[in-house]
Amino acid sequence: MECIKIFPEIELIEDKGLRDKVQKVWKKAMEVGGWKNDDLFRMPFTLLIPQTRVSLVEHTRAVAKCALKIAEVLQYAYKDMRIKKDYLIAGALLHDVGKLLEYKDSRNGFKKSVHGNLLRHPVLGANLASACNLPAEIVHIIYTHSKEGDLYRRTVESIIIHHSDFVNFEPLKIQNNG
Ligand SMILES: [Fe+2]
Repeated sequence: MECIKIFPEIELIEDKGLRDKVQKVWKKAMEVGGWKNDDLFRMPFTLLIPQTRVSLVEHTRAVAKCALKIAEVLQYAYKDMRIKKDYLIAGALLHDVGKLLEYKDSRNGFKKSVHGNLLRHPVLGANLASACNLPAEIVHIIYTHSKEGDLYRRTVESIIIHHSDFVNFEPLKIQNNG
């Protein structure tokens, strides 16, 4: 299965070169982590909500959809608001790709891998994206989407992904039913 079938939102990226690069990062992450396409639908999007039923694929797509809605509202409300939509979509689709290296599948379910015990997914994902020659703005979104980014001055696109990510985490966490 092509990444485009797993993440149809890739097709919303106008720049074909960038679309290809986003797929390249996912393929590389699957190869390095030793995952198959089906694993992405089984992999939980977080280990912080025990037994969540929300997969990494569902989460990633929901973050992309939320980010696009936020961008639409901001651009409607504030006429001078400049948002690089291609970067926003690519960043949304790649923000958690590092989880393919951060997690492992064990007999007792998904756990942190050796990599994951040493570095979190924002760092692992940013390294992968960088190795695949993604633009610095997208590497920035991946690296800064979570608390690591609190030390940086996030770009507009990163701020949107950061909040889209947390709004797709905290409500599920408090209900603990994902
Ligand atoms: Fe996320």
